[in-house]
Order: sequence, then C-alpha cells, then structure tokens
Amino acid sequence: MKVTKAVIPAAGLGTRVLPATKSMPKEMLTIVDKPAIQYIVEEAVNAGITDILIITNRGKGIIEDHFDRSPELEERLLASGKTDVYEQVVSISKLANIYFVRQKETKGLGHAVNCAKSFVGNEPFAVLYGDDVIIGDDPACGQLVRAYEKYGKAVVGIKAVPEDAISKYSSLKVDLLEGNTYSCTDMVEKPKTKEEVLSLYSILGRCVLTPDIFDILAETKPGAGGEIQLTDAMRRLAQTVGMIGVDFTGKRYDMGDKLGILQATVEIALQNPVLGTDFRAYLKELAKTL
Ligand code: UTP
Repeated sequence: MKVTKAVIPAAGLGTRVLPATKSMPKEMLTIVDKPAIQYIVEEAVNAGITDILIITNRGKGIIEDHFDRSPELEERLLASGKTDVYEQVVSISKLANIYFVRQKETKGLGHAVNCAKSFVGNEPFAVLYGDDVIIGDDPACGQLVRAYEKYGKAVVGIKAVPEDAISKYSSLKVDLLEGNTYSCTDMVEKPKTKEEVLSLYSILGRCVLTPDIFDILAETKPGAGGEIQLTDAMRRLAQTVGMIGVDFTGKRYDMGDKLGILQATVEIALQNPVLGTDFRAYLKELAKTL
C-alpha cells in the first residue's frame, strides 16, 4: 500500500529551548529564512506525501497561520512588484493538504501520535518529529517509505550514536538485511548499564508506522516522565511482528536543543544559494579571531 499520509507531532513544551520557546513553538524557530517545520513538511512532500496532520496544542496557532494564505501580505507584495517573494509565500499554503488537531494534554509522543488515529484510518503513515530537521538530497521520509513498500513492516529511521551518549537514546537489536537496512526485533529505551545496550543504533526523527500501533498505544501505560512513550509501543511492535530499521542518509539537526539549532543555522546558511558565499566569507574571517 502506498504511503500518502504523514503525522508531525508538534505539541511538545520545548523545555530544553527555554526561554525562546516560552510563547514560540520550537517547530517555528527559524533556520536561515524558514521555520523548522516548513523544512519538515517539504521533506514529506518530496517523499510523495499528500496529506499531513500536524499535532499542535495551545499557543501553537502560528503554525496554522504559516501554512495558510495571507491575503493582506500577498496584496502588498504584488502591489510592490515583489513577485518572487509573493510566489514563495503563496506556495507554502499549497504544499500539501494540511490538517491540524490539538493534543489537549501534553502526555508524551505516544499520546500525540494517538491523536492521529481517525486521520490515519487503516493506512500506513509516516511520522516526522516536529523538532528534527533532516537535510539531504534523498528525503529521509522517502527512504523509509521505500523500505515499508518493500518489506511491508513498520520502519524506523536509525543512526549510530556515540557510545557515551547511548544512555540518552533508545538502543536497538538489529541484524543487517541489505545495504543500510536492518531488521529490528527488540529495543531498550535509555539503557542504564553497558549490559543493557543492544547496539549503538537508535531511533531518530522519522518512522513509518502501521495502523496496529493504535491498538498497542491504547494499552501502553505511562512510562518515563509519566508520559505515554512512542518507543514503548514500538518495542512491542519490534518484539511481536518485528520492524525494519533504515540508517538513512542526510544530516539531522535537533531543533529541540540549543546547540542543534546553532548547527542547523550555520550549516544550512552555508548551503543557501543567495547567502552562502557571503556567509562563508564572513565565517572564515570570524574563525581567524577565535
Ligand atoms: P520531545 O520530547 O523532543 O519534545 O518530543 P518536548 O517534550 O517538547 O521536549 P523538551 O524535553 O520539553 O525540550 C519530540 C517531538 O514530539 C512532540 C514535540 O513537539 C517534538 O516535536 N511532542 C512531544 C508532542 O507533540 N506531544 C508531547 O506530549 C510530547
């Protein structure tokens, strides 16, 4: 079955990025000239997704405004002959069919994904974490979708993390299938001891889930931090029917982390067709003084 639906959970509190995120959703933090969530929506669209549900909550209305038309602004841009910017602004509202639902209480990523149940129906769907921006020629979401279409199982985006950092992530039991694709049959969330570590591969930022995840989520009790954890439900899926892990290509930036935001800004600015050359020259000069 083709994957045409995606869910972007964007209802977290973003406590690691305070005070910036006191009233500004972290998903709307700017990287060069676009909010983080626009990069994510564009990745999904480039992977063939046509329908996107964004999970929001109170205070995240500007996410909806960003993907809406903006008649006064558009008129002003047209009247002043700024047709290029006009086209850019209008095109944002035409990227995909974008829907919104509110997660009424911030009870974790698993709880947020469960809010997508009626949108998803009985189809496989992609999940793109709203604070993980991945930049690459081949959209990470598309790489996972292709693996789903080949193996017919839930797929998780995976990356090897440094040994001293694995205790902050999930650790997956993986066996190589081909190329950068693995079967995943178990996982441990935030392993506390070396013995608990199954591998240095962790789930990062993207997955394609099958609708049976909702039955599992319905039975998933609050885990770490009193929140309903998506990884707890994924572990059940891995242990029962198994999952596929794809070590995706592309550079991931964690917009839920202050250093991650700075790295995204610098690296994406360097690639920018308009600003890149001047910015590179500026950075080179600056680097001499460091
Ligand atoms: P995080 O755990 O990174 O987000 O969730 P957070 O809770 O905002 O982080 P901190 O620790 O307080 O800084 C990953 C993604 O899941 C969404 C977040 O918006 C983020 O995009 N999320 C998380 C929800 O939609 N609902 C939740 O209840 C929790």
